[in-house]
Amino acid sequence: AAAGRPGRPRLFVTRRLPKKTEARMTDLFDAQLRDADEPLSADEIAAGMADADVLVPTVTDEIDAALIARAGPRLKLIANFGVGVNHIDLKAAHGAGIMVTNTPGVLTEDTADMTLALILATMRRTGVGERRLRAGDWAGWAPTSLRGTRVGGKKLGIIGMGRIGGAVAKRAQAFGMDVLYHNRHRMPEAAEQALGATWWDDLDAMLAEVDILSIHCPLTAETEGLMDARRLALLPPHAYLINTARGEIVEEGALAAALAGGRLAGAGLDVFADEPNVPQALLDLENVTLLPHMGSATFEGRRAMGDKVITNIRVWADGHRPPDQVLE
Ligand code: DGY
Repeated sequence: AAAGRPGRPRLFVTRRLPKKTEARMTDLFDAQLRDADEPLSADEIAAGMADADVLVPTVTDEIDAALIARAGPRLKLIANFGVGVNHIDLKAAHGAGIMVTNTPGVLTEDTADMTLALILATMRRTGVGERRLRAGDWAGWAPTSLRGTRVGGKKLGIIGMGRIGGAVAKRAQAFGMDVLYHNRHRMPEAAEQALGATWWDDLDAMLAEVDILSIHCPLTAETEGLMDARRLALLPPHAYLINTARGEIVEEGALAAALAGGRLAGAGLDVFADEPNVPQALLDLENVTLLPHMGSATFEGRRAMGDKVITNIRVWADGHRPPDQVLE
């Protein structure tokens, strides 16, 4: 091992992980695993980090500057189980000489699948139909009942054309949708052509054009509250909003008000600002599909996320740069 990097690193893992991941961690590292699905308190994480080389947290752990300040002297790596790192104060970590890694790529397809599931469920009203059937409130097929909106031929606006945004665009194309996208950087022309995607530098202008808006950017200081009341009002009243990224990117109160007031057709949400709390105003609405942050929840994806965490730790312990180091 390189100077300062332990041969058999001591890990503190905050949550129960897939069995295969845990078995590999036990084989390879001095791993303190967690046999529970509830998040730990900040005090419990601080205690766990006290004599660890590596912290393995998930999206539910708020690794803020105050907590990082309590890390033990050995802690040199935060190997996140998940791709989003908005819950980790990167500046504080880097300032304390702690590297951060994540798990990009392996949950792209699953999250894109879930995005399409939300688009279809919301526009075709599968939740409404299933709730009626289960309530015994189905009298049989009727020409005018349970009509939704066709997805083919519609304009899908994507905010954030990274890995997941691109995978959503590919699927949308197969469903016959037109793809518009807003991203800091424009894709190469060949990539745009392959996806049939049109770049919109001006987000506000794109919002006025879309039938469906789907969010795929990370949560950062710039994207927090991006879809506020003003921008939500730019969407046409027949538009649907889909969010599989992070809840804080959309102002939930303004979204619920727009939906209740008929200023938006519907929404499909897999993420919320204060998980696991879902605002009552959203729960009260019929035209909303609500999922409990399950975009990456496949056996295959979660196992691959575990493998990525392990690779990052091994490469780091060998004194090399881990493949998924998060820099900014
Ligand atoms: C991710 O990987 O960011 C998912 O949202 C779960 O954390």
